[in-house]
Amino acid sequence: MTGRVEGKVALISGAARGQGRSHAVRLAQEGADIIGVDICGPIENLAYPASTPADLAETAELVRAQGRRIVTAQLDVRDYEALKAAVDSGVAELGRLDIVVANAGIGTFGSKLHKMPESIWQDMIDVNLSGVWKTVKSGVPHIISGGRGGSIVLTGSVGSHKALAYTGHYIAAKHGVLGLMRSFAVELGQHMIRVNSVHPSQVNTPMTMNEVTFRLFRPDLENPGPDDFAPFSQMTHTLPVPWVEAIDISNAVLFLASDESRYITGVSLPVDAGALLK
Ligand SMILES: NC(=O)c1ccc[n+]([C@@H]2O[C@H](COP(=O)([O-])OP(=O)(O)OC[C@H]3O[C@@H](n4cnc5c(N)ncnc54)[C@H](O)[C@@H]3O)[C@@H](O)[C@H]2O)c1
Repeated sequence: MTGRVEGKVALISGAARGQGRSHAVRLAQEGADIIGVDICGPIENLAYPASTPADLAETAELVRAQGRRIVTAQLDVRDYEALKAAVDSGVAELGRLDIVVANAGIGTFGSKLHKMPESIWQDMIDVNLSGVWKTVKSGVPHIISGGRGGSIVLTGSVGSHKALAYTGHYIAAKHGVLGLMRSFAVELGQHMIRVNSVHPSQVNTPMTMNEVTFRLFRPDLENPGPDDFAPFSQMTHTLPVPWVEAIDISNAVLFLASDESRYITGVSLPVDAGALLK
């Protein structure tokens, strides 16, 4: 039996850990080779631990354990020239490009918009919005020149569809991702390139499962942990679960990346345990 993305090549940003790693492994399980990029280091103002080169190396090992090839590069999605160089050489090595998953992102919170320092605003827009645009931009020429069409999946958030206080810069960037998705879908349709987005609620990855989040929700406790955060997180959902797992997003990405969704484009798919119903 062939895999659901057998023989295809996928570019994935933010591949060192969390959802990006999960997407890389899931697509590899179904037959894709991977170009995985990640900054593997700190970004200013992030209050949770950064990914490391060892994380990206572990993703590479996990992909190879599926019998697939992977090319990795340590780079910042804010740097288009670095992205272009990595994608050009990844495609030269792996032979083609069919799928782009623009997943890399950061989370910061704590200021109201009218009091937010400009640097915090700017980093967010540069990474979570412009970085998505640059990632797609670096891959599109290769998909077009392949002449076989392709699939692009952008990572939004529940915050692409509704607002939350103290995260206005994140909300603005993620709303922008929705606009990017729709605009790319309109422009690339003639090439049989489909563009869709996935919209997670809280995911069990370091971006959300960290001390800062726990303290935000439980300022009353000295050392709050995931169990203290869980009931508050669950209140945002319709289904009785506190968060979703990275694999749940990966399965949605896989469907959108595969030919099973061959006539689906311009769609925003929540993977949010019903958060957007509330
Ligand atoms: N975790 C959640 O609760 C949640 C919810 C909704 C949406 N999201 C979105 O999902 C995506 C993936 O996040 P995650 O949950 O896997 O978090 P994560 O922090 O575990 O992983 C994000 C990865 O992106 C990389 N990255 C960040 N900035 C980068 C840059 N400038 N250049 C290159 N790589 C960069 C990080 O190094 C990290 O490896 C993000 O776009 C995030 O906004 C997350």
